[in-house]
Amino acid sequence: MELPKKNPLGLNAWNALEAHFQSIQEKSILDHFEEEPNRLNDFCLQWEQFYVDLSKNRFNTETQQLLHKLAEESGLSEAIEAYFGGGLINETEGRAVLHTALRDTVSTRIDVAGENVLTGIAAVKEKMKSFSDAVISGTWKGYSGKALTDIVNIGIGGSDLGPAMVTEALAYYKNHLNIHFISNVEGDHVREIIKPLNPETTLFVVVSKSFATQETLSNAITVRKWFLESASEEAISQHFVAVSTNVDAVTAFGIAPDNIFPMNDWVGGRFSLWSAVGLSICLSVGYPHFETFLNGAGGMDQHFKNSPFEKNIPVQLALLSIWYNNFWNAESEAIIPYTQYLRNLPAYLQQGIMESNGKSVDRNGKTVSYQTGTLIWGASGTNAQHAFFQLMHQGTKLIPADFIGFKESLYGETEHRQKLTANFIAQTEALMCGKTLEMVTKELQAQGLDETTIEKLAPFKVFEGNRPTNSIVIERLTPYNLGALIALYEHKIFVQGVIWNIFSYDQWGVELGKQLANIILSDFNGEQGHPHDKSTQNLIQKML
Ligand code: F6P
Repeated sequence: MELPKKNPLGLNAWNALEAHFQSIQEKSILDHFEEEPNRLNDFCLQWEQFYVDLSKNRFNTETQQLLHKLAEESGLSEAIEAYFGGGLINETEGRAVLHTALRDTVSTRIDVAGENVLTGIAAVKEKMKSFSDAVISGTWKGYSGKALTDIVNIGIGGSDLGPAMVTEALAYYKNHLNIHFISNVEGDHVREIIKPLNPETTLFVVVSKSFATQETLSNAITVRKWFLESASEEAISQHFVAVSTNVDAVTAFGIAPDNIFPMNDWVGGRFSLWSAVGLSICLSVGYPHFETFLNGAGGMDQHFKNSPFEKNIPVQLALLSIWYNNFWNAESEAIIPYTQYLRNLPAYLQQGIMESNGKSVDRNGKTVSYQTGTLIWGASGTNAQHAFFQLMHQGTKLIPADFIGFKESLYGETEHRQKLTANFIAQTEALMCGKTLEMVTKELQAQGLDETTIEKLAPFKVFEGNRPTNSIVIERLTPYNLGALIALYEHKIFVQGVIWNIFSYDQWGVELGKQLANIILSDFNGEQGHPHDKSTQNLIQKML
């Protein structure tokens, strides 16, 4: 089962969308509301505790139907089957893409190379459960007999961003263990993290799918050296565990085989937090919450797999994103979670979305002649309102935005919750409705300003409006709903990759920089004769 390989530009629906775009580009979202009395009903979706309002978008029912045709002509339904069924859809690496199997509670078999992967998954989960129970309860002791107090996750990219984002997002559900993250190869970063730690009570979780990543291995070596300043070699087995597919390399590093939590090559790094890569999440909130988190993602998987396109939240978000990216020429998308707990969601999704769909060669090996992956950015609301919202309201760029909010607050601070929610809603209203010159003029007149001043000032106070947003309203920030939210974006990535005819699950674009960094490192160490351009050569001299 492979993915179809259709150039989207050759699809009837693509051409129809181009013509349709010409016919509706001058319409405002408010015009659409006037023309479509059922718009709200038609464009609001409910799934479990998720309510998604798509009505504040520059599209109408005809657009939606054409986008559905595009999905059909692209072969999306067959692609979804291949994705969940273990097809080798990561073709350039010859791998299946099965992060969905890690949270699958419905299937009894998913075969890869004749082996049911669900058996191995269950065994790793069991190991994660008993290990995290032992550490949390204090039955797992450090070398001096004390219970552990601090956990340090050493990893980068998918081996860091997901666990770091989720442990922060689930802080409300957290136990007594302190969780830290070391990612950057910068020695100062490592030193700052280990400075306050006591080696007697600290556990290091070295996470690297490949166990070949420069940053993670360097940091693990530095940390081990620091640890051995106070402890003996034998103590390593109580304080170092690893998560990897590369068991040989982990063993060679000196981590005991019992302390290895294996993962499989069919889990991509940026989709790996559901695997043993989520060990620090498990340690932070306990296995039962981790399992609920997996179940939420599993629930979203079923919704995605089984819902018709018009009711399918990931499909709708993906199609709208294509609509803006390819027909409106929008370059970026903003993600604005209205909760501090999710302030790192945009950074997490940057890897998920941009590493997956930042491709310019299609599945036939040809350079594409259309836009693919969007730029992703964002920050938590209301903070973002006081930072970059000026540009979103009055700048020259079209920036579709996802507003993510929760109906309930966790501590029940009602007044705060109301203010936060009022801001969420107000921003989407302001972005869509704007403020006309007439409205501004009336407002300034009411303030008693003279006509000359009003004429001078008014243009700067006008809001064009017509700026699209999706409102994703979730009942409460629970492990289940967080799992579902992340899975929602994973499937959005998949749908877009299918339609753009690109491979979303490799990342060759990160390799060149890694190779050159190794060459420059050997230049620093005195090796001669590597050719560099003049600017690079100069920087090497300056920074040596
Ligand atoms: O450099 C990119 C990347 O390969 C990511 O895709 C991955 O999440 C990260 O590096 C870390 O890789 P590893 O888990 O193998 O150390």
